[in-house]
Amino acid sequence: MFKKIVMLAVLIASPALSQDKTFTLRTPDVLTSSGFIKYLLPRFSLKTGIRITSTITDGDAAFGDAGVPVFRQEDRIWRLSKADGAYTDKFAAWLLSETGKRTIEAFAPNGDQLFSADVGVSLEPEIIAVTGDAGQGEVVSLSKCGRCHVINDSNRMKAIGSTPSFALMRSFPDWQRRYETFFMLNPHPAFTQVLDVTEPFSTNFPSPIVPIEVTLEDIEDIVAYVAGIVPAFLGAPMQSQ
Ligand code: HEC
Repeated sequence: MFKKIVMLAVLIASPALSQDKTFTLRTPDVLTSSGFIKYLLPRFSLKTGIRITSTITDGDAAFGDAGVPVFRQEDRIWRLSKADGAYTDKFAAWLLSETGKRTIEAFAPNGDQLFSADVGVSLEPEIIAVTGDAGQGEVVSLSKCGRCHVINDSNRMKAIGSTPSFALMRSFPDWQRRYETFFMLNPHPAFTQVLDVTEPFSTNFPSPIVPIEVTLEDIEDIVAYVAGIVPAFLGAPMQSQ
C-alpha cells in the first residue's frame, strides 16, 4: 500500500508534463508550401513550450475561413478556428499579440513580406517572452557570424572588412527584425541552416562555403547580445537598406 502511494506521488511530480503540452493544427497546403508553417510553429513553441503538430486532416485547431481573423495574405483573411483548451487558446492569443504579429510579418522569403498581421484584432498585453542569454549570444555570434561580421573588438582583424559590423547593423531602426530573420536575408540563405526551420540545401545548390548551423535559441541569444551593443555612430543619417 505504502509503495503505491509513493509511486503515485512520483507520477504527479513528473516533469514529463511539458512533453504533453501539444496540440494538432490543420494547415492547408498553400500555407505549408510557402514555408510559413515551418517558420511560424517553432517560434510559438520556443516562446511557450507548447508543441504543435501540423496535419492536413481535422485537428484541435485549423487555419481556414472560420474563426478569429489572424493574418492576411493579399486579399485573403486567414482565420483560426479551435476547440477550447489552454494550449489552443494560448496559440490564438500569441498570434494576436505583439510578438506574434511581428513574427508573422517578419516572414519574408526572398525579402518579400507574404503576410500582414493587420486584421483589426489585437490582444494586449504581451504574453510570455522568454528572452535570450546575451552571454551565450556573444559566444554564438563570434563562432557563427564572426567569420564575416565584426562582432566586437575581439574579432576585428578576423572578419571581412566589406561586411557590415554588428555595431553598424545595430543602428538600423529595425535591427531586431533583421537579426531575427537574418537567415532569410541575402547572402545567408545560401549557407545557413536553422534547425527545424530551413529546408536542407538542394543537391543542385549545395552551400558554396562552409555552412553555418544555428537553432532558434541561438538566434534569440544573438538578439539578446545585439540588444546590448552600442550602435555605431556614423555622423550621417543611415540608409536603412
Ligand atoms: C559568409 C559571411 C557571413 C556570415 C557567416 C554571416 N553573415 Fe550576415 N551578412 C553578410 C553580408 C555580406 C551581409 C551584407 C549583405 C548586404 O549588404 O546586402 C550580411 C548582412 C547581415 C544582416 C543584415 C541583413 C539585411 O538585409 O538587413 C544581418 C542582420 C546579419 N548579416 C546577421 C548575421 C548573423 C546573426 C550571422 C551569424 C549567425 C551572420 N550574419 C553570418 C555575410 C555573412
